[in-house]
Amino acid sequence: MKKTRIVVIGAGAVGSTTAYTLLLRNRADELVLIDANHQKAVGDALDMNHGMPFIGGGKLWAGTYEDCKEADIIVIAAGAAQKEGESRIDLLKRNVSILDDIVSEVLKHNEHGILLIASNPVDIMSYFTWKKSDWPVQRVIGSGTLLDSARFRYLIGKHLNIDPRSVHAHIVGEHGDSELPVWSLANVAGTELDIAEEAKADIFANTRDAAYQIISAKGATYYAIALALDRICTAILRDEGAVLNVSTLLDDYHGISDVFLGVPCIVDRQGVREVLKLDLSAEEKELLQRSADKLKGLIGSIAI
Ligand code: LAC
Repeated sequence: MKKTRIVVIGAGAVGSTTAYTLLLRNRADELVLIDANHQKAVGDALDMNHGMPFIGGGKLWAGTYEDCKEADIIVIAAGAAQKEGESRIDLLKRNVSILDDIVSEVLKHNEHGILLIASNPVDIMSYFTWKKSDWPVQRVIGSGTLLDSARFRYLIGKHLNIDPRSVHAHIVGEHGDSELPVWSLANVAGTELDIAEEAKADIFANTRDAAYQIISAKGATYYAIALALDRICTAILRDEGAVLNVSTLLDDYHGISDVFLGVPCIVDRQGVREVLKLDLSAEEKELLQRSADKLKGLIGSIAI
């Protein structure tokens, strides 16, 4: 029986934490870590493998692009990360250049896997990767606003003193400053949320600005994004049909097309099976349009 394989490209904070998370949770038979600095990947692999007597499970090694050949999922977490005072958009030109080289290498060895992009600005990086790969769009997925929605659910749950797993709420749009909260549909067990407007504003501001807060405190974010990427990989490999707010190409989504944005999608073994059109309020539609316009303007600034 074919072994499942996930390749993680980029052994920086996000990539190595993602690989470790996938290893701890035994998500695949084989995990491969690739980095331009091969010794970093070697060191991470050694450090993780020395823990195998405590966790058991699959195999993990520091590999090369040839290892992409058998990959079911190729996670791209490479590139420059936000520094204090930088937005995700500030990374655009550097990371387009890095992903251009990475995707070229991947395409030499894999034609049928699923590309999962975490590199920022992730919506534009996902669009760029889709165009460059020319793969079916359902097989090129951005981490999108899955992490933002998790932050949103956590903060709502904290405010209401309810388990965040029981809070159903979406952040959609750019994984970034123009993202928007879908308060109109947020609920617990189908009941509307009793939260004052001022508290709602605080919850959303802390959701949208979470990365800035964490980067200011410790220099980078990596734990929750690793768990988000683990969640997406699991939905794919287990053919779950899970609804996850990943970044995908919109086609007449409330009139928005030709841009990758985070919206609820059904994710299974084939990738994005279906995009779910939320019944947004007029204000939410306007904010989503603004998010789309911002990213479309930036897409126009890069050579694809
Ligand atoms: C963050 C990074 C993954 O939001 O963009 O933490």
